[in-house]
Amino acid sequence: MTTNSSAQAAVSGKVALVTGASSGIGRATALSLARAGAIVVCTARREALLAEVTEQCQMHSPESSYIAGDIGQREFAEGVVEQTIARYGQLDILINNAAVPMHRNLYEISAHEAEAVMRINFLSCLWTTFAALPQMLLQGEERAGGKEKVRGEAGVIVNVSSFAATVTPTFETVYAASKAAMNGFSQGLWNDLGGSGVHCALVVPGPIDTEIWHKFDDAGAYSGKKYPAQLVADEILVSIHKRRYEVTVPRRNPSLVSARVVATFFPAMIRKGVARMNPVAAKLIDEAVARARASRKPVNR
Ligand SMILES: NC(=O)c1ccc[n+]([C@@H]2O[C@H](COP(=O)([O-])OP(=O)(O)OC[C@H]3O[C@@H](n4cnc5c(N)ncnc54)[C@H](OP(=O)(O)O)[C@@H]3O)[C@@H](O)[C@H]2O)c1
Repeated sequence: MTTNSSAQAAVSGKVALVTGASSGIGRATALSLARAGAIVVCTARREALLAEVTEQCQMHSPESSYIAGDIGQREFAEGVVEQTIARYGQLDILINNAAVPMHRNLYEISAHEAEAVMRINFLSCLWTTFAALPQMLLQGEERAGGKEKVRGEAGVIVNVSSFAATVTPTFETVYAASKAAMNGFSQGLWNDLGGSGVHCALVVPGPIDTEIWHKFDDAGAYSGKKYPAQLVADEILVSIHKRRYEVTVPRRNPSLVSARVVATFFPAMIRKGVARMNPVAAKLIDEAVARARASRKPVNR
């Protein structure tokens, strides 16, 4: 699908902040937004990659810029929103896309590592949203042109989730939890923001061909077809334009559609199917028991 011209027109002249813009879906989205005439602020940790993608954005949208840092830190997450507003005087589109994978059995994840995933994948989205909302609400009021009880186009918040929150594969517990939290937050946002002029959209990618798959400990975890990141970027622009709430990418994919239907109506079937397809090795349980035994504390009665 190529982004249609009305979707492009909807973002032209808007200021968009894209988290996780240094690679994959975030990079493709930042470039699509810039090509459509939005001023894009790219953020992620790897500054050299950010500088490169920003330079490409600037070829279409010269005022685009970047801010490098760790979105898993609340101060930074709020800071990128504040700096964007300070730089441009507006923030129209917030794309919460940054995330890290976590493909390991729970026995092999520390509470500290799990918390880091929640901070990067979910809490960052909550922090940027809280920081962006006051500005978006004011924009809505101003753009309504003083008409009472009518809010203008205040802004759009797009949260990039994952199909893993709908059907959770083995060893994706913490990652799926971070995305399920994002799903619940987005649904609540959509409700709470009703009438404000701020729209919340949830974009749910299936398997997309990005470097996230190379960040797994178990590189061969998934060997099926992967789709181009541009497909997600195109759907993000359409979601902004049409103020659509939820889209799974690729759309109308038979495997994803049937998995969603089964997960909705026969959740136990999905759980048991996943467990059968990728059972937990007895060795993992034995090792976890051994670790538990070694760290057992004496009972003080
Ligand atoms: N690819 C898929 O199959 C797939 C499927 C479902 C959902 N998704 C979701 O799609 C989104 C984009 O993923 P992707 O596939 O494009 O993966 P990716 O290429 O690995 O991109 C992840 C982005 O997040 C940034 N990031 C990670 N940790 C960060 C941190 N602590 N602070 C700031 N930025 C951080 C990375 O930049 P730095 O490393 O430079 O910081 C990178 O730009 C994610 O939310 C992911 O969960 C992807």
